[in-house]
Amino acid sequence: MNDAQLTLIPIPAKVDFTGGYRLLSASDSIGYDHPDFRPLAIQLQTLLRPATGFDLPVTDGVNTASIKFELDTSLENKEAYQLVSTNAGITIKAASAAGAFYGIQTLRQLLPPEIESREPKSIEWTIPLVTIADRPRYSYRGMHLDVARHFFSVEFVKRYIDLIAAHKMNVFHWHLTDDQGWRIDIKQLPRLTDVGAWRDQTVIGHTSDRDLTFDSKRHGGYYTQAEIREVVAYAKERFIDVIPEIDIPGHASAILAAYPQFGCVQQDYFVQQQFGIFLDVLCPTEKTFAMLESIFTEVAELFPSPYIHIGGDEVKKTHWESCAICKKTMIENNLANVNELQSYFVRRVEKIVNRLDKKIIGWDEILDGGIDPTATIMSWRGMEGGIQAAKQGHDVIMTPVDTVYFDFYQSTSLDEPRAIHGHTPIQKTYAFEPTPASLTEHQAKHILGAQGNVWTEYMTDEHQVEYMLLPRMSALAEVLWSPKSLRDWSSFNRRLPQLFRRFDIMGIKAARSVYKPFAETKLSDDNQLLVNLESYQENVSIHYTLDGSQANASSPLYEKSLVISKDTIINATSVDKTNGLGYGEETVSLTVNKALGKNLVFHTADGSTQLKEFNGELLNNGVLARDRIFQYHEWTAVTENGLQVVVDLNDLIDVSTVSLGYGTDLHRRLYFPSGFSISTSVNSKDWKRLQSANKQDIIDAGNSIELIFPAQQARFVKIVIENDNRAYSAESRQETSMPVYIDEIVIN
Ligand code: ACM
Ligand code: ZN
Repeated sequence: MNDAQLTLIPIPAKVDFTGGYRLLSASDSIGYDHPDFRPLAIQLQTLLRPATGFDLPVTDGVNTASIKFELDTSLENKEAYQLVSTNAGITIKAASAAGAFYGIQTLRQLLPPEIESREPKSIEWTIPLVTIADRPRYSYRGMHLDVARHFFSVEFVKRYIDLIAAHKMNVFHWHLTDDQGWRIDIKQLPRLTDVGAWRDQTVIGHTSDRDLTFDSKRHGGYYTQAEIREVVAYAKERFIDVIPEIDIPGHASAILAAYPQFGCVQQDYFVQQQFGIFLDVLCPTEKTFAMLESIFTEVAELFPSPYIHIGGDEVKKTHWESCAICKKTMIENNLANVNELQSYFVRRVEKIVNRLDKKIIGWDEILDGGIDPTATIMSWRGMEGGIQAAKQGHDVIMTPVDTVYFDFYQSTSLDEPRAIHGHTPIQKTYAFEPTPASLTEHQAKHILGAQGNVWTEYMTDEHQVEYMLLPRMSALAEVLWSPKSLRDWSSFNRRLPQLFRRFDIMGIKAARSVYKPFAETKLSDDNQLLVNLESYQENVSIHYTLDGSQANASSPLYEKSLVISKDTIINATSVDKTNGLGYGEETVSLTVNKALGKNLVFHTADGSTQLKEFNGELLNNGVLARDRIFQYHEWTAVTENGLQVVVDLNDLIDVSTVSLGYGTDLHRRLYFPSGFSISTSVNSKDWKRLQSANKQDIIDAGNSIELIFPAQQARFVKIVIENDNRAYSAESRQETSMPVYIDEIVIN
């Protein structure tokens, strides 16, 4: 690692830092030896002007210029470039304008971070003396933005494109339509935007909350065709392909609100006001395909990309199952089931798109009923869809939900803003490998690259998008651009502070979550609760308290695993060793009790069915999920069948209380159990029922309830949890049972 590399993300394929610096000055000038490079020379001039105050002249030819763009057709990769800086000047060689553009992005990062300032700065504009030979690992380096769940201005979309470009990424996947809004003007179908671009209100809080509330604010907007052309042109100057997504045949509420005649059932369709997967689906009639042809014809004219993304994800086939037209279509076309009907739908759309001289991309569900290998697959439900697709000869773009969905939480710290769910710390993104080892060399060629996805259900404004995006996108950029052999978390980690400094100067609030501490708990073989405190940022010290007070830089320094022998709240904070700044607060509430780590057996509440799939460790691992941000994987879900748990205490021992947690107000309002009762036994056959609570008792108790009973000798403790919660579900348009989440069984 050397100083030059310290500033570069993604790290170039080859950097030689020759030592020393050159200063950029007002007497520098920019030249080019090929007309294709003139726009790049002007871009560089424009880029340098605000912060330096230099208005460097741009000249045709390189003889008199100190910063030269030179055509080098010997470079095989069209996006490759070479950058050499010496005392005499700087030369960027490339075989195409795209390569020269990436050379500029590198030069920008070689300069001090103040180069990002919009105001003049009087500093020395140092450029390290380097020889760089660089080229991308993957040809598809994408970022997605969902503008349907929340609408974002053209100005912001351009800033988003700027960020994509600065990271040497080259695709902007614009998710333009979804249940909560249609965002692209289609001249032949004006109601798509007149009606479909607007919703009357939006859910407040999380869409899966108990007692949903709405904000009574109309939300919406759309892009005119002129604005779309403006964005596409803006992206083109930055060598970014804009791929539009028109998501069909599911995620169709906004289309059907505008044109209900294209649905299977005649009902009141509306633009959705909350989030989820809805029943609304397009009916595969000739009229529907004609309507889609109108849409795709206009889309194809607006977007020069060779691809149109047609969605295809999360299609609920309930309406198809009962629709007479769908049944007839299935018979006429020899389709065995609704999955094949989905394939039929996608194939029809693919024909339309192909006639328009474009290729389709679809989410991996389009594989389900079979699909021609001409479709490119975007693998999001994991890597498996992409692996299968590559084996079948499809081109593949990897976007697995657990590593590159930037709508997931970035840390477990309580100060993270509300997110959809999940936990994707930046290190997980950085460790992502787009090309599965199980593919042959030939199959692996079908992996074009990967993409980060930004779904905006819980990103109501631009700052929130930037916070969720950065720096995880920077990690993905390195995965996609840099040679695999240079992927090194420690190195990336050391380059991050410089990157943050750049974002600060750009006025972007990137997440500092990487600095935050996190706790890993485990039970030792002899049932001791051990806690490790860690941070993904290596240059921090971690300080903690065990008495519930807030941790700060003067709290005890964490040095080795903590052994916890009684109920304890651990608060931890990280302190940056370089500048003393503190980050985040990790809180873990731990319970050491008689149930800790004991064997559990699960049944439905009436004891009729043994439940094997329950992850028992969560219920007595000593960690109280109720004090943490809601994460599915820290809770146990109880269905309408209820749950009976028998804890085997191993020996006859005294017990007198059992408690259970079920609530958190940290980003999610969960449902309460409707009943909770305790029995004990010495032999697991004869049971003594000791105490119970009804729903009102449980609600009154708050986050958790403790049942107290006269002390008993018992080996087995049976806990029965009932769940009669039902609520109207916008997803299924009917009342459905709602899960109750419970966190920990505590026996004393
Ligand atoms: C998706 O996340 N539904 C593609
Ligand atoms: Zn139908």
